[in-house]
Amino acid sequence: MRIILLGPPGCGKGTQGDLIQGKYGFPRISSGDLLRDSVQRGTPLGLQAEAFMNQGELVSDDVVVGMIQERIGREDCQGGFILDGFPRTVHQAERLLEIDHGRDEIVLDIRVDDQAIIERLSARRICSGCGSIHTLREAAAKEPGACHACGGSLIQRDDDKSEVIQRRLKVYRTQTTPLEKYYREKNVYHAVEGQGRIEEIFARIEAVLERSVPGLALKAEASAKR
Ligand code: AP5
Ligand code: MG
Repeated sequence: MRIILLGPPGCGKGTQGDLIQGKYGFPRISSGDLLRDSVQRGTPLGLQAEAFMNQGELVSDDVVVGMIQERIGREDCQGGFILDGFPRTVHQAERLLEIDHGRDEIVLDIRVDDQAIIERLSARRICSGCGSIHTLREAAAKEPGACHACGGSLIQRDDDKSEVIQRRLKVYRTQTTPLEKYYREKNVYHAVEGQGRIEEIFARIEAVLERSVPGLALKAEASAKR
């Protein structure tokens, strides 16, 4: 099974993807996290991607497809995986079919309005140690600036500045929203209301997944026993 998380910047793809991974055991593959890791390590791919990311533009399809192909070719993805932030163009979706053909897929489009997105992204902090996702309020309530999971310092992503957020939203509308029609026509598309509490949204996602994917509830039970 291939679970694709669609939705604008800050809609909760990472947050919900982690919950799906925790419940059903599929690894979450985030194209943004893979790119940020390459930037941090200063690899040739990272050097190529950094300027695009900091301006809120998409990195080239070839670079991203190659990176995803390498990641989903690994052992832990054999039984299925969650894609967070990929594909982001119709061309990427077509390439995905070539590099991972024959696998069932389901698309969850997390819908959130622009105002909530701006609020969420301005308040987001990421752990520099384990990469976990936090909010400013949460961070302030705990030991200031420290991750509750690993104690690492919490930092703001370079692309979470207000002018870059606006650009990312615009890029999403022009380049990624055509995927809704593409996946609707394949009958694998599900819109999920993304406003409300994190647990409420996850309950909506669980309902869609367990209704649409045979055997998934059993997989969750097996995963819980492990
Ligand atoms: P990427 O890292 O994928 O960024 P994005 O799509 O803009 O999405 P975000 O990670 O910002 O948000 P999210 O939906 O994961 O939300 P989160 O769970 O963190 O991509 C970054 C860049 O990399 C792109 O701009 C591009 O340059 C490049 N790139 C990546 N993939 C590419 C591709 N396929 N092709 C080309 N280029 C690519 O939640 C956000 C915040 O809200 C958090 O603080 C969270 O705690 C909080 N929150 C979550 N849910 C709720 C809730 N229900 N209520 C209140 N707060 C909430
Ligand atoms: Mg994310």
